[in-house]
Amino acid sequence: MGDETHHHVIVGGSAAGISAAVALRRHGFAGNVTVVEAGGELPYERPPLSKALAGGEHAFLHAILPRQAYAEQRITLLSATRVLALDPDRRAVELDDGRTLYADRVLLATGVLPRTLPVPGAELPGVVTLRDVRDARALAARLRAGGPVVVVGGGFIGLEVAAVARGVGLDVTVVETGARPLAGPLGPELAARVTTLHERAGVRLRTGASVSAFIGRTHVTGVRLTGGQVLPAATVVVGIGVRPDTALAEAAGVLCEDGIVVDRHCHTSVPWILAAGDATNQSHPHLPARGRIEHWDNAVRQGAVAGAVLAGVPESHTALPYFYSEQYGRTLQMYGRAAAGDEFVLRAEAADPVDPTDPAGGFLGFWTRAGVLVAAAGLDRPRELRAARALIERRVPVAAAALASPATDLRALAQPAAKAS
Ligand code: NAI
Repeated sequence: MGDETHHHVIVGGSAAGISAAVALRRHGFAGNVTVVEAGGELPYERPPLSKALAGGEHAFLHAILPRQAYAEQRITLLSATRVLALDPDRRAVELDDGRTLYADRVLLATGVLPRTLPVPGAELPGVVTLRDVRDARALAARLRAGGPVVVVGGGFIGLEVAAVARGVGLDVTVVETGARPLAGPLGPELAARVTTLHERAGVRLRTGASVSAFIGRTHVTGVRLTGGQVLPAATVVVGIGVRPDTALAEAAGVLCEDGIVVDRHCHTSVPWILAAGDATNQSHPHLPARGRIEHWDNAVRQGAVAGAVLAGVPESHTALPYFYSEQYGRTLQMYGRAAAGDEFVLRAEAADPVDPTDPAGGFLGFWTRAGVLVAAAGLDRPRELRAARALIERRVPVAAAALASPATDLRALAQPAAKAS
């Protein structure tokens, strides 16, 4: 039976937003649930957009839920509709089609916006970012037309796109301001191995480099670096990070500091408004300090907590941070988050850890803090990483020497703690 008197509105048909809608029903909420989404598509998963770009739309466009699931679960989806403003006093959600929705609670799952580079030529056709499915369609078409491709930013977007573009044989250069791509999340030792992976595939990496201008008359034809060198380019993909979309939250008086500030139950500073996903700045037991977690897994799990809380179940978001990336058919994964001052332990590895023909290939690294494992990352090491995850979650004391030895079975390390708990 429905309950027409209660209504929750979710802003954003994102991983977090849809996860929350589904969780509301899973926890027995019988009132109305409305998802407002500015994009015109059925809400879709973002991870394949950068990983499966070369495979055509059927490869990179995956709906989060089939269309009929919205009717079955009585989730009203307002696509191609934008929320213009939230009024906590009137509990009103103003839409761009002139309508006003009244809600018991609002969940903001507004996500992030790509940063752009404020240099001359940034508006030239051919200089693109990749965030939504329209961007993916446009970039896929550009890649089909050929290279060279210059990727600005050696982060997740940059490296996944570089791998896809090299995979279809295009000439690719990655320009990264830092000393190594992905050094932020992975640290220098593992980032060096990822660098080798890309160099082996034929990607040119320009690290410690920045862009001073994009060049071209009617269309981008080159990227000028601050040293003056010009890299030829038919397409430039800018993947230099994101900023949280906090406009609605701020206008509604919600406290925002590098994201929408939330507690573990997804509450914001305004009781009527909750928030989940990339847009949030969260206090989390596995983060060294309050911060943002910009990954799909977090969005799904935090969204589910928000849905539970909206349904009256006081869950809290404590799931271990996790990300994965796919590059050249290899899988990079990380559990937990390392912080400055952690001890890094590299597991002894095959002579050439990124040789795809070597069955012992791949790599595994660990971070410990006060003798406890806090993070683990690896390439093509899913089994070991699953075991490491259990060690991190249970805060099992571990010796660096044991972690470093390939003879150590991580699952066995987790056992005594499992029995004791
Ligand atoms: P990112 O934060 O992962 O990487 C940005 C990179 O650009 C960093 O290496 C940074 O040092 C570099 N950079 C910053 N300014 C620069 C400049 N002016 N010139 C050259 N390099 C510069 O952000 P990215 O790759 O744009 O990804 C966007 C968002 O999507 C992130 O939130 C990311 O976590 C998420 N994402 C996650 C994926 C995953 O979990 N596998 C895959 C794709 C995206």
